[in-house]
Amino acid sequence: MKNVLRLGVNIDHVATLRNARGGAWPDPLRAARIACEAGADGITAHLREDRRHIIDSDIARLRADIPLPLNLEMAVTDEMVGIALKTRPHAACLVPEKREERTTEGGLDVIGGRARLAPAIAALSDAGIRVSLFVEPDPRVLETARALGAPVVELHTGSYCDAADGPARERELARIVEAARVAEELGLECHAGHGLTYDTVGPVAAIETIRELNIGHFLVGEAVFVGLKAAIEGMRARMNAARR
Ligand code: PXP
Repeated sequence: MKNVLRLGVNIDHVATLRNARGGAWPDPLRAARIACEAGADGITAHLREDRRHIIDSDIARLRADIPLPLNLEMAVTDEMVGIALKTRPHAACLVPEKREERTTEGGLDVIGGRARLAPAIAALSDAGIRVSLFVEPDPRVLETARALGAPVVELHTGSYCDAADGPARERELARIVEAARVAEELGLECHAGHGLTYDTVGPVAAIETIRELNIGHFLVGEAVFVGLKAAIEGMRARMNAARR
């Protein structure tokens, strides 16, 4: 029997749109409810240090009102670890964060950042939060993630999605396939995400040891044209077709 592939819907960019006018609409909570109806397995939200999209009250409302597991994407800072310990999401995905970046560029520096990561992983895990590390598909990084005691890694699919269709993208896909194999060998649960679209999701969804995809920007963009429910259902259908 093949592993189930979960879909985590990232609702950050519903909040981006809301914050563009500084009001309360569109509400990311409403997006999370629609994601539930559309068959999402989880909700993902990134509380950035600069609160450019998701804000603290969104996280509190998601925890209070949405029955799906919440995956909190967060930088490895004392502030964010404190918020996670207070909010108790189902999962916390540790990501690198730079204020000047437009989106999360590259995976965590797991090797250079061991000293900072180890206590954060321990504190979150002790609180029953499932920790994942957002990493480049690089076996050396995965080994360090394992040594640090993280149960999950999320492979950064940005380079794969950004590569030109053809040999360059194939090369990036091969890195993801190999990293997913190594993760399985190391006993790490493997997730993937960043930049995935209808055109790029299939080959990643087809990797049987990947258990979860986290997808946001494309879905929110597509929702402008077809509605959020239809956009998510379209993604789910492509994931299922690739897995068959
Ligand atoms: N996974 C992680 C760790 C991310 O930081 C992001 C972007 O917030 C995503 C998945 C989703 O990426 P996208 O919005 O490009 O689908």
